Amino acid sequence: MAQAWGFGRYGGPEVQEFFDRPDPIPGRGEVLIRVDVAGVNPLDYMVRSGLVPGLDGGRPFPLVLGMEAAGTVIALGEGVDGLEVGDAVFGFALTGGGTYAGTTVLSAAHTARIPVGLSATVAATLPVAGTTAVDALDQLGLPAGATVLVNGVGGGVGLLVARLAAERELRVIGTGSAAKREPAETVGVRFIDYTAGDVVAAARELVPDGFDGIVDLVGGTSLRAVAPLAKDPRNVIAVGDMSVPEIGGRFVERRLDRENLERAAWLALDGVLTPVITAVHPLSDAPAALATVENGHAPGKVIIKVA
Ligand SMILES: NC(=O)c1ccc[n+]([C@@H]2O[C@H](COP(=O)([O-])OP(=O)(O)OC[C@H]3O[C@@H](n4cnc5c(N)ncnc54)[C@H](OP(=O)(O)O)[C@@H]3O)[C@@H](O)[C@H]2O)c1
Repeated sequence: MAQAWGFGRYGGPEVQEFFDRPDPIPGRGEVLIRVDVAGVNPLDYMVRSGLVPGLDGGRPFPLVLGMEAAGTVIALGEGVDGLEVGDAVFGFALTGGGTYAGTTVLSAAHTARIPVGLSATVAATLPVAGTTAVDALDQLGLPAGATVLVNGVGGGVGLLVARLAAERELRVIGTGSAAKREPAETVGVRFIDYTAGDVVAAARELVPDGFDGIVDLVGGTSLRAVAPLAKDPRNVIAVGDMSVPEIGGRFVERRLDRENLERAAWLALDGVLTPVITAVHPLSDAPAALATVENGHAPGKVIIKVA
C-alpha cells in the first residue's frame, strides 16, 4: 500500500484527491518501482481532464496522476528484458499506473537504467521534456550556424530545447514572458518578451531573412502568429498543438523507446540536457506542483520528490 494522488473522475482540479493504493501488480512487460521522483507535465492535467483517455491503460478510477518517474525496481512482470530488481531506473508510465505515488508500474520498453552519476531528480525529467527536446531538434536536423526560434522557451521543454540547440551550435532566439528572460539568457538565448510588444516584429528585426526552424511549445494563436517567420513552413515543429499541419508545419515525432531515454540520460550526464528545476515539492504538496504547471506559465521544470 502506498500514498497516491489522483482523481476519482475526469474533470478540473476539484476532482483531485489523495488516497492509499495497493501496490500495482506488474503486468506483462511492466516493472513495479518504488518512486523516488515524479516529473510534472502539462500532459498530467490533460489526462485528468479526460482529453487523452488512451493513457489510462483501461484502469478503473481512482486513477493516479503523472506520466514519468525515477525510482528503484522492486518487482518484474513477465517478459521484461534488460532490467532487474534493485535497478535505479527512469521511464514512462504509459500503462496508466500514474507516478504521483509511492509505488507504480512503468512500461519496461519505455524505461531505462539511470547511468551512474546522474541523479534521480534529473532522470525523472527526461522521459517527457528531455526526449521531446531531442526529438524536436532531430526532426529539424538543422546544421551548425542555422537560426531557430523557440516559442515558449521558458518552460520545461523550451529551456532544454535551447540548451541542446546551443550545443549543436544553432543561433537560438526564444520567446517568453519577462520572468523567463534571465533563465533563457543564461542558456544563451536571445530573448523576446512577448508581453512587451510585437513578438513577430521583434523577431523579424533580429532575423530579417527568416528562421531556419521553429520549435513551438505554445500552440494556438501564438503558433499561428510566429509560424510565417520560418523560411519553410515544414520546419515549424509543434510539440503541443496537433493542428500544426493545417499551416504546413509538422507535429513532433516522438521516440519513447529505451534507446532514446538512454541517449537523453547520457546527454544529461554530459551537462547538455540539464533541466532547469525551479520547484521541488513533496508528494503532500502535489496539488501546488500541478497547479503551477496548469496555469500555463511554469518556469522551467517542476518535480515531486516522493521518497
Ligand atoms: N508531444 C509530446 O510528447 C509532448 C511532450 C512534452 C510537452 N508537450 C506539450 O508541449 C507544450 C509545452 O510543454 P512544457 O512542459 O514545456 O510546458 P510548460 O513547462 O508549461 O511551458 C510552457 C511555457 O510557455 C510559455 N508561454 C505561454 N504562453 C506563451 C506565449 N504566448 N508566448 C511565449 N511563451 C508562452 C509559458 O510561460 P510564460 O508565458 O510565462 O513565458 C511556459 O513557460 C505543452 O502543450 C505540452 O503538453 C508535448
